[in-house]
Order: sequence, then structure tokens, then C-alpha cells
Amino acid sequence: MRKLLLFSLTFCLPLLLSAGGGMWLPLLLENLNEEEMKGMGMKISADDIYHINKGSLKDAIVHFGGFCTGEVISNQGLVLTNHHCGFSAIQSHSSLEDNLLENGFYAKTKGEEKATPGLFVTFIERIEDVTNSVLDGIDEDTSEKERAALVAENIAALKARYRLKDHEDLLVKPFYDGNQYFAFVTKTYNDVRLVGAPPSSIGKYGADTDNWEWPRHTGDFSLFRIYTAPDGSPADYDADNIPMVPKKHLEISLGGVKPGDFSMIFGFPGRTDQYLSAAAMQQRTAIINPIRIGMRDRSLAVIDSAMRADQQIKIDYASKQARIANAWKKWRGESEGVAAVDAIAKRKAMERDFLTRLRAKPGEQERYAPLLPEIDALVEQQEAVASSNAYAAELNYNIDLFRIANILRRQVKIAESNGLEEFKRRLPGIINYLESFYAGYNAEVDKRVAKALLPVYYANVPEEHLSFYVQDQVEFAGSLDRMITDLFERSYLTKGERLLRLLRNDPENALNLLRGDMGYVYVAQLNTHNEREVIDIYNEYQQRAAPLQRQYMKGLLLFFPEKRLYPDANSTMRVSYGKVEGFTGLDGKKFDHITDLDGVIAKYQPGDYEFDLPLKLVKLHQDKDYGRYAMKNGKLPVCFLGSNHTTGGNSGSPALNGQGQLVGLNFDRTWQSTMSDVNYDPTICRNIMVDIRYVLFLIDKLGGAPHLVEEMTLVK
Ligand code: ARG
Ligand code: ASP
Repeated sequence: MRKLLLFSLTFCLPLLLSAGGGMWLPLLLENLNEEEMKGMGMKISADDIYHINKGSLKDAIVHFGGFCTGEVISNQGLVLTNHHCGFSAIQSHSSLEDNLLENGFYAKTKGEEKATPGLFVTFIERIEDVTNSVLDGIDEDTSEKERAALVAENIAALKARYRLKDHEDLLVKPFYDGNQYFAFVTKTYNDVRLVGAPPSSIGKYGADTDNWEWPRHTGDFSLFRIYTAPDGSPADYDADNIPMVPKKHLEISLGGVKPGDFSMIFGFPGRTDQYLSAAAMQQRTAIINPIRIGMRDRSLAVIDSAMRADQQIKIDYASKQARIANAWKKWRGESEGVAAVDAIAKRKAMERDFLTRLRAKPGEQERYAPLLPEIDALVEQQEAVASSNAYAAELNYNIDLFRIANILRRQVKIAESNGLEEFKRRLPGIINYLESFYAGYNAEVDKRVAKALLPVYYANVPEEHLSFYVQDQVEFAGSLDRMITDLFERSYLTKGERLLRLLRNDPENALNLLRGDMGYVYVAQLNTHNEREVIDIYNEYQQRAAPLQRQYMKGLLLFFPEKRLYPDANSTMRVSYGKVEGFTGLDGKKFDHITDLDGVIAKYQPGDYEFDLPLKLVKLHQDKDYGRYAMKNGKLPVCFLGSNHTTGGNSGSPALNGQGQLVGLNFDRTWQSTMSDVNYDPTICRNIMVDIRYVLFLIDKLGGAPHLVEEMTLVK
């Protein structure tokens, strides 16, 4: 009954203007958003965006590799995504002799397109509300354990009812913390080939310095093509495969954007936590983020100085450093943003509103009144383990010796539970991984990272979360510093060549040696203890919080029907919309909505690793040779801003105009905008897109690949 009530409520939510933000399910737009979208300048209809019987925009959008978004932009299966999404594919085809990363690359013919094993794209065939099936037999009195079992059972039964074809799958995902469930019928293509990419100097222009910042000047794109079996069905790689003939591909507008234009982002946002309690938001942004940022401040200081001092280290650490720095900077922006707009106080106010509205519903007191205090109590109780876990997680993430020990630890466990033969069967894969890992490994830098991080770990993690064995090692060595030196000197893990030789020649002996290796044992002990005393307990709190959070979410939906609350991102297909617009920073500084090539050139520093440029681009700028891609003022557009709610996973998402035409490619957010993962604030949260005209210019004029532009559908 209650469930039904919730349904009818969510279904007929009034079409009031939301406070901005939101990542909406494409199949619900007609009921929830279409009117507002049209009011904001959208000319197409919800049907044009999502329809199951006729080709709609959703048929041109792909989940790219499971971690980014891409879109089909020609009737021959050409796919556009970000450079940073295609990065490892491009890297895998690069060598010193033929460095595609450095020089850029465009296939001149389809025959030159590069098969990329392991890369796949997934389309969404249709989406269905399956809440009633998944929650069948569950009511308010069902225990959590029973509930979980019933949900799993119901999902299995549901899957059996769908007649899925080859390469199709059914994903069933919880929404609103498990108050609603949607099923996604997916179709996956495994033959995806690299077609083109600009040089990294353009695709990563500004690198870390400009990452998460505006004004921005990055040409963050790359091109791929989907291949199918000759009959058009999805297929694994085969030389006889043919370019896909898609149901739908996006039209590209050369018309450009101006402030106030309707803007829409279509893609696969990964994860948001919009409905965290104030206490949980406080813990995340004031306790956990600072721990992780502090650890990375230290490791990045070591890595950056090593990279500055040595050309080879600079190359070896490039992607490692980018990975560490991306989240480091994101957390800083998030915590700063939350503090700057007083998001915690606002969340507290919302919690008070919750109680006020609850008071008007006497029958619901018993169920809803205890929720927030219980959630807050759990948040408080978990703080110690959450903090210790943050320190340990950073050791595991930043110190390569830890990374490698953890990978080997999984293999040792497999050998222990499934036998030596299974270990040997997996060995080629492991060796493969280790070879590329050690190719860029530098034990000296790694030791310095360890010396920068481990003292912080020991100084801040309480005794009961630390392993005695590990502490004994430290004491035995006389000092932590001495112990780390010993560790790096004596461990095989720091000597890739020897470890690899051993694994290749005598896997059984290698296993035995590992079990006694000082580095391996140290990391294994630390983590075994951490898993038992920290992670398991942390997970227990999370499990206890889940049903409370689910109830609270249900209460929010019931008590705030006018608020049109959107479901948190969960790597499913979503639409967000807003306007093309600049912003005024919290310090009052105004930022324009667009950047141009003059700005790129203004930042140009020949030889610098972040701000170098191909000379040909400098020349094209000198000659103002922009062809049909220039703006009315004669300048070449580069990036622009919008008030679309996005998050990680939205990289590569198409930026569409009111006509549903492609005008840009999403790739980032501005400083402080990253708080939108917990608190979307329309005054300053902006997503960053590359202008499609810059992309086309780079392919056509700089890359000399006009044939690729010719296969697209351009409209003025
Ligand atoms: N900040 C963007 C996103 O999270 C772009 C990241 C590209 N990588 C980089 N290190 N610049 O993922
Ligand atoms: N850069 C992010 C991505 O890779 C997008 C974002 O977090 O705004 O998905």
C-alpha cells in the first residue's frame, strides 16, 4: 500500500522549477521535465530523446568502456569521446618509434583503424520500471536479511523472463537508495577501433594546472569506430567485421553557443551522494577528504620533484601522477565548495524541514522520527574506522610497493584456495601486467613516497587499528625510516627483473619466495589487520545505515513532493540540462562562458610539459586559418561552460543544443563545482565542454583528416 502511495506520488510530481541540478532518467522526462525543458528553450520533445520503438537520441549514446560516455556521430559507427577516456587505448598503440600519444593520429582509411582488445561500448536498448517485480513480497516488516534475499531472487526471476539475445544483458539497479528499481536492456559491442586523437599536448593541454579549473583550453577528444559482424550484429573482433550502421547518429551543429542557450548532457554519470545527512557530509568533507588530501600532498611533492629533476621519471610517472592528482584536486575543490556555500548548514536546515513536515503526519512519527538521529549516531561511530581506512587506502593507492604486493597477494590467495595449477594458468596475464608495471617503476622514488606517507599513518592511526607484527618490524629495525630502507633494499618487489625471471622460470619457487619476502609480508600483514579491524567494521556500519538511508529517502520523497528530487547517479543513463552560462565566483570574480584559441596561445610555453603546443597549431593561429569553424568575431572557440549537473563518468558525454544537435563534448567541472557530488549549487556549479567546432578544426585543419569530418552530418 505504502509502496503504491510512493509511486503515485513520484509519478505526478508537480512541474515546479527545481533548484537546478539533477540527473534524470531519460524515460521519465516526459512526465517530470519536458515542460521545464521546453520552457528553457528545448525545441525537440521527450520522445525524440527517448523512445523504444523509433530511433531516438538515446540510441546514439554509449557507455564507453564502462567508465566514460561516448556518442555515435556518423552513419558508419564513428564514436566521439574524450582524450582522457581513450588515453589508455591510445597509449596501448604507442611506442617510442610510433608515439601516437605524442604525435596524434588519424587513420587515413578504415584499414588503418586500430583494433583495441578489451575495449567495448554498450548501448541501452530500453529502460523499464521494475520496482513492483523486484520488491514483490516485501513490506515494511520484512527484515533486512529477508529483503536482500527476496530482492536477489526477484531479480533472478525477472532476468529469466527477458529473452536476451547474444551480447545483450539486463542490468537491474536500485534508485533512491532502493525505493525504486529500473531494468536496463543493454547491447554491447566488443570490436571498437581507434580512429583518431590529437597530440597529447592538445588533448591534455594544461594538464594538472588547469584540471578542474576555468578558463580552460583543452582539446579533450578522441575518435573510435564500432565494428559489427557482416549481418550488423554485435561481434568480437574479426578482420571481416564491418563498420556499424547505427540506429541513430547525432547531427553536429556549427552554429555555436551563446549565453542562455538551452544545454543538455546525455551520459552515464558514475556516483553522487546528494542525500547525505549533514553529519555525513561534514565527515566526508571536513575529516575524510582532508586526510586523503594531506597524504597526497606528501606523495605528490615527492613525485613532482622527481619528475622535474629527471626526464625519464617524468615519462614514467605521467599517468600515475595524473591519476593521483585528479582525485586530490577534486577533493580539495569539493571540501572548499561545501564550506564556501555553507552546504552543511543548509543540509541541517533541510533536516529541520523534514521534521517539521513529519509533524504534520502523526501516523508516520514512529517510522520516520528516529531515522536521522540513528543515521547520525552511525556516522559518529564510524568516524574512527573511516579515518583509519582513509590513511590505509592512501598507502595502498600511492605506494607502488603496496600496489604490487596487493596484486600478488590476490594471486597467492588463489594459489592457496584453488591450487598451483590455477595460479600457473593465470600467470601469463600476471606477468603481462607486471612487465608493464615495472617498465615505469622507480624504486627510489617509491621509497621516498613510502617515507613520506608511512610516518603519517603511524602517527594518526590509533593503536588498535595497527598490526602488532608490523609494529614489531619497525621496532626491530630501530626506526621507521630504517625499516623502510630495509624493506626497499631487501624486497623482491622492488626488483622487477628478478621477480619476473623467477615467475617465468619457477613459479612454485616464486610463490614460496613471495610468502617470505619482507615487502610482501609487511604489506600483507598491514592489510590483513586493516581489513579485519577497520574495513569489515566500516562496512558493517554502512550496512546498518543502508536501510535507514532508504527509509529517510522515502520520507524525503513523501514529504517534499514539490521538490522533484532526482535519484543519485549510479552509472546508469541520465540526462541533465541547464543553460550555457558563465558564472560569478564566490569572491565576486566574473567568468565568461567561452574561451578561444587566443587564450590557448596566451598560455603557450614551448617545451613545458603542460603548456607546449604543436608548431602547426601556432601557425594556424598566426594565419587565423580557421575555415568554417570560426565564431562571428573571427576567433576560434575552444571550451565553454554550462549549468548542467554532471559527475565522473559524464566525461565524453555529448553536449546538445535545443535542437538535440551536438555542440560540444563534456569533460570536466570548474573549481568548487566538484561539490556537486554531494551538493549541487546552481550559482557556481558549471560543467566544462570542448566546443565541437574546435574538435572539427583539430581533425580537419590540424590533423589533416577532412575525410572524417565528411562522414559526419553537419548542420548550420
Ligand atoms: N578532471 C577531469 C575528470 O575527472 C579530467 C581528468 C583528466 N585527467 C587529468 N589528470 N587531467 O576526470
Ligand atoms: N572528468 C570527469 C570524468 O572523467 C567528469 C567530471 O567529473 O566532471 O568523467
